[in-house]
Amino acid sequence: MNTRIQSHNQTAKNLEAAFAGESMANRKYLYFAKIARELGDEEVAQLFEKTANEETGHAFAHLELMHPKKDLTVQRLLELAVEGELYETNTMYPEFERIAREEGNEAAVAEFQEQAQESQIHADTFMQAAKRFKAFTLVEKAHADRYQKMLDKKQSA
Ligand SMILES: [Fe+2]
Ligand SMILES: [Fe+2]
Repeated sequence: MNTRIQSHNQTAKNLEAAFAGESMANRKYLYFAKIARELGDEEVAQLFEKTANEETGHAFAHLELMHPKKDLTVQRLLELAVEGELYETNTMYPEFERIAREEGNEAAVAEFQEQAQESQIHADTFMQAAKRFKAFTLVEKAHADRYQKMLDKKQSA
């Protein structure tokens, strides 16, 4: 694999991580705002809400580089959404559930199971919405990874 492609891939990973961080900051500050309000500090609650909005802007800026508008169609949006939800329901949550069980965290086991089911429902709903696109191609994460490895091999050859 040449360096140009390697650094491109690393930046793609970094964008993914930065997007995750900014997205988490957004939801975390909304949660903190709710708690601060319940604790009677309206001023701090509003500070968290204002900052949460700015974090959404930061997250969107990363998304625009990860998924440029020129590459997107409604069909592609639905495909990306289904891929993400299926990754959660088939790969991420089952693994997290297994580890939570090993560690005896029953609350986390229950939550991971519940959210795996909700991710499946989201995937089904998006697939339903995509029915009008005949060529809807569903690439599950595992398949996508295998395909990427094949491409990498070709490029290094
Ligand atoms: Fe930020
Ligand atoms: Fe979901």
